[in-house]
Amino acid sequence: MRVLVTGGAGYVGSVSVERLVEAGHHVVALDSLVTGHRRAVTDGARFVQGTLRDREALERMLREERIEAVLHCAARSLVGQSVLDPALYYNENVAGGLGLLDALRAAGVERLVFSSTAAVYGVPASVPVPEDAPLAPINPYGETKRVFEGAMRWYGEAYGLRGVALRYFNVAGASERNGEQHDPETHLIPNVLAAALGRATLSVFGTDYPTPDGTCIRDYIHVADLADAHLAALELTARPDPGGGAPGGAGLTVCNLGSGSGFSVLQVIRAAESVVGQPIPYEVGPRRPGDPPALVASNARARELLGWTPRRGSLEEMIGSAWRWLQTHPSGYAA
Ligand code: UFG
Repeated sequence: MRVLVTGGAGYVGSVSVERLVEAGHHVVALDSLVTGHRRAVTDGARFVQGTLRDREALERMLREERIEAVLHCAARSLVGQSVLDPALYYNENVAGGLGLLDALRAAGVERLVFSSTAAVYGVPASVPVPEDAPLAPINPYGETKRVFEGAMRWYGEAYGLRGVALRYFNVAGASERNGEQHDPETHLIPNVLAAALGRATLSVFGTDYPTPDGTCIRDYIHVADLADAHLAALELTARPDPGGGAPGGAGLTVCNLGSGSGFSVLQVIRAAESVVGQPIPYEVGPRRPGDPPALVASNARARELLGWTPRRGSLEEMIGSAWRWLQTHPSGYAA
């Protein structure tokens, strides 16, 4: 298939581009390079620098490249930043996303897979979280993803868009080629490994949560497993009815993507210690505002609908791959 990956130079996008190229597809990676890295795009894909707000250029490219399906990863994705600067998130995630939808309609592209997030659930009443749990985001990041899912649903019902929204839980790990490099880095595993390298001080945000060891529980999913799910979801959109009648709105299929297991912050630190073979120092800090105590996916729908199963579900494997990437890329994507 001929696929456009928006945000193709980002963390999740670049590993998905690799996977699609490896599977023999023609891939165009679009990225503004505001947060993405040019070097993250494999030579097997065509790279285009641009934004979703340039409707005309986007539409032209969809036609020229005869794009059949789109994987939409481009987004702003820092929860804390979204609270401080919601305009950035509404402009890029919502207005940018609508620009993409309009370009797709104009160019007659009907297949769309969207990088959504568990942040659409806010603080879930219980875990594991099924897809039909109430959507109650507690920050602009989650809200902008929820709004775009809504647009996909209604565009699906009215215009025949065949959409799949994948709600990621906590993405982790690296491929051999691509890893996680954000600035600033707010995610737990990169911060734990930075502490192991003596590059930063690690703070555990709260040890007084109602969980067995008092720290937050999250569902970590390997970025390469995510890429496998993207490929399966893109293939699903070739069907006239991708969801096959699955609940969640006729115009949109939604799927959680998580490993289905929860690990606490302290368990992540312990696993990282066994990977790096040394103790990792940390201090205990206050809770970070907006952190739900536990987030774990029910992934039954993804297994059934996508025929997908997380194959790299152990913490050691995820952290080990991130650690290897740091060893082989000591300066990250810098020259
Ligand atoms: N944490 C620390 N210290 C750190 C970083 C994180 O203790 O230096 C803790 C957090 O408090 C949280 C857990 O580690 O309990 C995981 O935090 P991350 O920042 O790695 O991930 P989040 O769970 O906050 O965020 C992830 C995705 C978001 C998505 C969200 C859904 O990164 O994109 O899940 O709630 F919105």
